[in-house]
Amino acid sequence: MLRVLVVSGMLGLTACDQSGSGSTPLPVQSVPRPPATATKMQYQQLTPDLLVGPRPSREQIEELVALGIKKVISVDALPPESNLWGDSIQIRHLPLGYRDLSKTHQLRLARELSIDPIRTYIHCHHGKHRGPAAGLAALRNLGQLDQAEAKTWLDRCGVDYQGLRQAVHNAQPQSSENIQAAMPLEEIVATGSLSRLMAEIDQVWDRLKKVPSPGDPDARTQKEDAAHLVDLFRMSAESAGPVDPAYPKQMQETIDLATKLESQLQDGQDAPQLRAALRSSCRTCHRAFRD
Ligand code: HEC
Repeated sequence: MLRVLVVSGMLGLTACDQSGSGSTPLPVQSVPRPPATATKMQYQQLTPDLLVGPRPSREQIEELVALGIKKVISVDALPPESNLWGDSIQIRHLPLGYRDLSKTHQLRLARELSIDPIRTYIHCHHGKHRGPAAGLAALRNLGQLDQAEAKTWLDRCGVDYQGLRQAVHNAQPQSSENIQAAMPLEEIVATGSLSRLMAEIDQVWDRLKKVPSPGDPDARTQKEDAAHLVDLFRMSAESAGPVDPAYPKQMQETIDLATKLESQLQDGQDAPQLRAALRSSCRTCHRAFRD
């Protein structure tokens, strides 16, 4: 199935696998070096009509629109920025986690890709894990990719979460009746209230607040939990909260700490200092804005 092996970068954009190790596992065709001024957009083109990558900046959105993107699906916690994409682009939102990708969600994505064949961009936050996994699982459900091709793409994009890899690996071609019966995607999935998000933050934080011992079941999901914590704080920043101007600043500092924790845990570190810094960040904010 050669059609899925379309080269990744176009118009001076760079491909996702070039930002990581620098080596391209599948030398399909050499990608020209982007000019120094080009945006470093890291995306993958899975099929002629399906691109996956990170949440794009304003300039990157312009580039994607120039590439003919007509629909954008965010599988990040937050929906696409419809004000930046403009009226002519269709917007969809299906927030995904890092632990798995349910059959229901796979079918909904497959349905969305099959109803009208327009060029679509699926993005998550970083563009490495959930976005590629979502696109690949949908293509597997649609029978447009075989298992070996899906595995090659998982490696190429750097999808690093076992639950997501497993979901793509296990996905099977579905009948078109099954796919068409799936629930349509929404344009924007509502974020919960701040107190609901905080209650969820509390549960995730419970598994992250101290360095787990090797036998602890929490030790197995540290990366997933840290990534989820970042998402929950990002959603908290978007939902209505205290009006004091110091509050969004405090929230942003916490997001930065949680993002650092996520990357240190991904690097295999224990990050005890960051955990301590986050703990005092919860306390500082609660003291100022809640208690
Ligand atoms: C930038 C500010 C801020 C940070 C950082 C923050 N919180 Fe909160 N938190 C709040 C506010 C404001 C509320 C009150 C929300 C409400 O009741 O509407 C709250 C409420 C809560 C609640 C009560 C939820 C309920 O049931 O009503 C819990 C539990 C909680 N936070 C846990 C945490 C934990 C754990 C952390 C750190 C990992 C954290 N929070 C970090 C601002 C913050």
